Amino acid sequence: MITQSELLTKKGEHIQRMFSSIAGVYDLLNTILSFNLDKSWRKFAVKVSDVTPNAKILDVCTGTGDLAIEYSSKLNDHGKVVGSDFCHEMLTLADKKLRKRNLSNKINILRADTLRLPFHDNYFQVSAVAFGIRNVSDLNAGIREMARITAPGGRVVILEFSQPTNIIFQKIYYFYFKKILPLIGKIISKSRYNAYAYLPSSILNFPDRHGLKDRMEACGLVDVKIYARTLGIVTIHVGKKP
Ligand SMILES: C[S@@+](CC[C@H](N)C(=O)[O-])C[C@H]1O[C@@H](n2cnc3c(N)ncnc32)[C@H](O)[C@@H]1O
Repeated sequence: MITQSELLTKKGEHIQRMFSSIAGVYDLLNTILSFNLDKSWRKFAVKVSDVTPNAKILDVCTGTGDLAIEYSSKLNDHGKVVGSDFCHEMLTLADKKLRKRNLSNKINILRADTLRLPFHDNYFQVSAVAFGIRNVSDLNAGIREMARITAPGGRVVILEFSQPTNIIFQKIYYFYFKKILPLIGKIISKSRYNAYAYLPSSILNFPDRHGLKDRMEACGLVDVKIYARTLGIVTIHVGKKP
């Protein structure tokens, strides 16, 4: 058993075990808990990524591959997406999804830790992550690694949960996401690690949108843009590698 405070230290091995335990219901719970908004958030992240049709794109912490799939829809036959993750169970589901949609030729799936990506410097036009970087044990090191494999002029794109700024909406939202969401998550996932209680705690412990922008700049990215969606429930940060 891993406790909530142990999970919040984000040791890779614990995070991996937690995601293995919910992999089978991950997509279903995303749809239910986000009221199906997660798809539009990923779509928007792709839209502001400045992708050209022949680009090489890396989606780290790809999970079941949804962001990678979204990027692949923008590419021609010369473009390529790689989806990487360190959780075997998530990647198995991603692989199954890609086969079913005939996308295995456009998207490669790879097992890799975001802190140690097996690619040369400057290899990709875009490196992106959706709801993943919050779980990486060293946030700055994760961003630096994404920036390292991105080509000069390319983009590092981070889609992540954030905290709504409107005080009234915040109160309603926090009730949902601190009380209701963990309960539904627990009932459906039956996760031994209480992954859906970790979700709100990890979001509340994550830098706010300006803090994340500062981190991206500290990691060498410039011209960092912030796009808040759905009253600030999620934010997309897009930074440029100089
Ligand atoms: C919340 S899921 C996000 C999945 C997907 N990107 C999406 O949009 O739904 C987070 C994923 O990050 C992966 N992950 C967390 N830390 C990681 C790390 N250090 N290296 C690689 N994958 C990691 C987990 O295994 C999990 O699949």
